[in-house]
Amino acid sequence: MTTLTGASRRWTLRGAQTEYTVAVPAHGRWLELVAWGPHGVSDGPSAVAYDGPVPFLTAGDAAAIEYATDADRPFTGADLVVETAAGDRRVGLGYTGEVADPDRRELAVDFADPVTGLRATVHYRVPAGTDVVQRWVELTNAGSGPLKLVRAGSAGFCVPTPHGALLSHQWGQWEQEFQLSHVELGHGAFTIGSAQGVPGHLHVPWLAVRDAAEPAGPTWGVAVAWTGSWEIGAERDTGGLTRVRAGRQLVDGPLELGPGDRLTLPVVTGAYSPDGLDGLARVWHTHQRQLAADRLTPRPVLYNSWEATYFAVEAKSQLELAEIAAELGVETFVVDDGWFVGRNDDTGGLGDWTPDPAKFPAGFDAFIADVRALGLNFGLWVEPECVNPRSRLYAEHPEWVYAVDGRPLTPVRNQYLLDLGRPEVAEFVHSTVDGLLRRYDIDYLKWDFNRPRTEPGRPGAAGPLDLDGAHVANLHRIYERLRHDHPGVLIESCAGGGGRADLAMAARADVFWPSDNTGPLDRLAIQYGFLHANAPHLLSSWVTDAPGMFDLRPRSLAFRFVLAMAGVLGVGADIRSWTAEQRAEAAGWIARYKEIRDVVTHGEVHLIGGPDQARCAVQYTAPDERRVVVLAWHTGRLDGAGLLPSRPVRLPLRGLDPAARYSDGERHYSGTHLTAVGLPVHWSPTHDADLIVLHRD
Ligand code: DGJ
Repeated sequence: MTTLTGASRRWTLRGAQTEYTVAVPAHGRWLELVAWGPHGVSDGPSAVAYDGPVPFLTAGDAAAIEYATDADRPFTGADLVVETAAGDRRVGLGYTGEVADPDRRELAVDFADPVTGLRATVHYRVPAGTDVVQRWVELTNAGSGPLKLVRAGSAGFCVPTPHGALLSHQWGQWEQEFQLSHVELGHGAFTIGSAQGVPGHLHVPWLAVRDAAEPAGPTWGVAVAWTGSWEIGAERDTGGLTRVRAGRQLVDGPLELGPGDRLTLPVVTGAYSPDGLDGLARVWHTHQRQLAADRLTPRPVLYNSWEATYFAVEAKSQLELAEIAAELGVETFVVDDGWFVGRNDDTGGLGDWTPDPAKFPAGFDAFIADVRALGLNFGLWVEPECVNPRSRLYAEHPEWVYAVDGRPLTPVRNQYLLDLGRPEVAEFVHSTVDGLLRRYDIDYLKWDFNRPRTEPGRPGAAGPLDLDGAHVANLHRIYERLRHDHPGVLIESCAGGGGRADLAMAARADVFWPSDNTGPLDRLAIQYGFLHANAPHLLSSWVTDAPGMFDLRPRSLAFRFVLAMAGVLGVGADIRSWTAEQRAEAAGWIARYKEIRDVVTHGEVHLIGGPDQARCAVQYTAPDERRVVVLAWHTGRLDGAGLLPSRPVRLPLRGLDPAARYSDGERHYSGTHLTAVGLPVHWSPTHDADLIVLHRD
């Protein structure tokens, strides 16, 4: 991996199909990107290097710097801005050495500032079998004076965009997360982020960058693995280089780094694909599957009672639902919000995690046993970081919530947020969840989080605090501990829908709840964006009766099932009101899902068309290429497709062996036909979705 070039040092990290080459120039003041792309891309003149004139700028402002201080890039955006006790900025660094481990595809390059004693180690890791590069920085104050980190980004990524940068990002709101959008950046900056102490609904910590002239060509991605406040900024310079800065957003103010202190900044991950956004999605999927490691197994089909009973949870109705769910073929029954004392609506109860005896008169154990007797596993909803003012916990520990001394609290959904950075709160949250898992026979946990952090304060605490950092670190620790101690329990990460879906959670949770919006056409757009950044095993999706909020055009039960099969199938409707025909149809879909879910979990994904186009489908090709599953939806986008009389819509499949032959049980196709002409689907106003399984002959 390590090669020496002249007086400068240069290293190449090799992924499955890609390589990432960096070098320290002879002056030794920073690390520079040489090349990032397919194998061999470093073997030739760099597409990002610049050593021409820089009138009215500095050399660093134009260089493809990997990790820049404000001394390196005074004008065009730095990743790290440090202030001394005297208020001086422009702390610069110099190269001091490196540790390279070619076998593990890891590199750590050390820098130090002789004036303040600040040390920075810039880390790289390419996980085996992937085309992503994980980057993070470790800062140590080896000097004698305190330092203030005014900005503490994790990395800068440089992308050649000679004709303008085409940026793709995902925006949203509650009930409308993961909306994929594109913006062309000629000059200037584009910024997204969250100041909410959680990744949030407003933007996904994910960005894709392409050259505007080649939208289907080379595509680079950046995602932040941080479950708190974050930011991603992209700036295109006049020379055609787009530099993406990513990392934490310091919402609590500058971070203090006292003498001897060490701080590890979050991982941000870069990804490369030669095949546009669709190819980039596969690179992210491979990475998330590698993060899931031995937990990457097809998830059970679940039933969740939230939309059927809301807070009116009690044993009788839950068991009625469970009985029908079992008949349909559901495998895990999840009781959502409303099962604990004081929880009859959203104004009380959070914090008091004891089953309500009035709702489970025979006892919670007996209730769970009844569910299990139906052949179902059991799951439970919790929101352990939050507390209602109307709860015993708040009466006993009002000091546990985030608060600014002397200022009123800001309730959101009638609840406050516990300061998880406090050791006693972390202990409470861990022991609450751990206690439930030990006390009751639970296989599945839905961990919710329904409010952002508003108060940047801890009552009585002096000095600046890194509340965001402490909350996230303890949250991650608790997840890791629970997973270690209860390896058989699957954990779903939810934050009022998709507010907590980042790469750090993808490494710790088993599945994400992407949105509370389960209406079919709205959900299609949500899932389409979600799958660009997330693998199908993370996509929890329920079949419900909800119409949606934005596009209320009705869709069939088949549409809803095929849509929920795109990831982890669940049912959330009030199935007590379903007719015998609906239940029979549902049982049929669930049985079919069980036949294909291994391909959905492990297959190579191709996103075909989109929710705003007449064709919209997802193709999953099994790793051994023997089976291809296609899920397709009739969007009815007013272009006539699917109305009478109409030719079939053709779905062009991808990545198939042109010489191979495939059969859907009735018809036979060549790989060339499926790719060039496409798989025909016959849609009409009454037939609006298809699940097609092709077997290789
Ligand atoms: C928000 C979640 O996204 C919903 O699925 C549900 O669990 C409610 N919270 C319960 O309060």
